[in-house]
Amino acid sequence: MNTEILIINGSPRRSKNCFKMANEINSKLTENNISSEVFNIYDMNIEYCTACGFCDKTGYCRIKDDMTPMYEMFDKVKGVIVISPVHFDCVSAKVKTVVDRTQAIYASKYILNKPSIDRNKKRIGMYIAV
Ligand SMILES: Cc1cc2nc3c(=O)[nH]c(=O)nc-3n(C[C@H](O)[C@H](O)[C@H](O)COP(=O)(O)O)c2cc1C
Repeated sequence: MNTEILIINGSPRRSKNCFKMANEINSKLTENNISSEVFNIYDMNIEYCTACGFCDKTGYCRIKDDMTPMYEMFDKVKGVIVISPVHFDCVSAKVKTVVDRTQAIYASKYILNKPSIDRNKKRIGMYIAV
């Protein structure tokens, strides 16, 4: 079954609050026949945005790492749930890295007027600050 809901766990702490919450939500969705997948982003290779400007010209990110499947997921899924610990009144560093890398999607829409994801598809987003 195709993943319908992407759950991003943004905590570096294994088996702690955000991790438990992500897995609890995942189980509840499964119980309700909604397919979902947890991405523990601290286990993933996601480079910092280098502001190289490649996405301003192409709508895509030049860096090929674990963000690549995430871009596909953002397009494909019906919803994304981001769970982040509050670190110094902000999201965790890795969540910030993911947010920065979504500049490629922003650039495709607002700079190039050629959205790299289907804009007509209805999607939901949820953010949980822990
Ligand atoms: C570096 C760091 C900074 C933090 N900053 C804040 C903060 O600004 N405000 C707050 O309420 N909690 C703060 N906390 C506490 C965490 O948000 C809290 O323990 C959270 O439950 C951690 O989630 P986790 O168990 O999934 O790692 C901070 C914790 C760390 C390690």
